[in-house]
Parts: sequence; structure tokens; C-alpha cells
Amino acid sequence: MKFFIDTANLDQIREANELGILDGVTTNPTLMAKEGVKGEAAIAQHYKTICEMVDGPISAEVLSTTFAEIVEEGKKLAAIHPNIVVKVPMIKDGIKAIKWFTDNGIQTNCTLVFSAGQAILAAKAGATFVSPFIGRIDDSSWDGVQLIEQIVSVYNAQGFMTEVLAASIRNPLHIVRCAEAGADVCTCPLSSILGLLKHPLTDIGLEQFLKDAKSMQ
Ligand code: E4P
Repeated sequence: MKFFIDTANLDQIREANELGILDGVTTNPTLMAKEGVKGEAAIAQHYKTICEMVDGPISAEVLSTTFAEIVEEGKKLAAIHPNIVVKVPMIKDGIKAIKWFTDNGIQTNCTLVFSAGQAILAAKAGATFVSPFIGRIDDSSWDGVQLIEQIVSVYNAQGFMTEVLAASIRNPLHIVRCAEAGADVCTCPLSSILGLLKHPLTDIGLEQFLKDAKSMQ
């Protein structure tokens, strides 16, 4: 399973990248706004900086909702760097645009996916990635990981090539369960990635080893 970081914060991207386990980055308009990025030029520059930091797919989301506008905006985003993946919402015009991008060699990430039916449409349109939002599903008292399992099973049965990108990750257990469910990619906040490191027995064991190491000096 590939690890993407789900943020537009450059310090967090750098910290995750320095671990050596980062395969890509996802952003969305909320995450970009949080960083105070404003205006077309600044947005493009921010994506370029991220692309220069991480060698892997970098999802940049369109802000438009009509076919022609999504295509125009997506073409501009894709021109920023070869690693840009145009992130398109799961709406009717979004599906049309994803098909257009597929036919024109532009990678896409179909976002705001909450059902297997939506994931089938994204795959039929040729999306590179599909992003089911598992944390938001859990927030409504459904099981987000079950959706990952269902989409993985449908894609395997049908031979779809679209990669299942588990998004809206809230904690380290989500990452483990998505890996178990067969997700191709997990996009996570830095806190969830670092949370995977934690185990009290590791801390206790290391403390003892260091203490015993001192007695040998
Ligand atoms: C990533 O592609 C999504 O935009 C993101 O994971 C959404 O996460 P949230 O539900 O925590 O906002």
C-alpha cells in the first residue's frame, strides 16, 4: 500500500518525506485555504513547490463544477508539473471531465466518493485514483472501511485498473484496516502516520536496552 500525506502544509510534507516512506500528496480546497494560499498564481506556485519536494503523484483539486470549466482548470493544473493528478469531484460533469482527461493522458483522482456505485462510475471513466472518504462515513455511524472492502472486491471482480485511495483517514487504526482491506493507497494526516510508530512495549523495551547497554561500557 502506498502512503500519501493529506495536507498542503509544507513543514508536514517535509517531515513525512524525510521518513522515506512517502509516495505522494493529496490536497483539497480546505487544506489549501488553511495554508493561506490565495489566487491562481499562488496556488500554482504552492503545487509546484510540493511537486519539487515529493517525487510522486500530487493531487490538485479543481474548483469548478461544469464540464468545460473543469477541463480548462484541469489542463492548467496538469501543466504545472508532470506529477500533478487532477482531483475532480464525483458529480455528473466531473465524470465527463475525468473521461476527457483519461482520453487526453491526464491523471485524475475522483474525490468525494461515498458509495461503490460512485466508485464504479469513476473507474468506467478511467480515473487513476478513486477517493472514498472513510472518516466522514464513520462520522455518520457507518463503517468506512467496509466501503473500501466493497470497492476493492468490485474492482478485482471487474478488472478495473483505478487505484483505491482511502481518504479522510482519522487515526492509525484506519491505516491498518485499509491495508488489510486491500486499499492501493492511504492518504493520511501526519499525526496518523506518526501514530503507527507508537507502542508502549517498544518504549519500555528500548529504555531497558539502553540501560543495559550503559552497563557494558
Ligand atoms: C483527501 O483526498 C480528502 O480530501 C481528505 O482526506 C478529506 O479528509 P477529511 O474528511 O478529514 O476532511
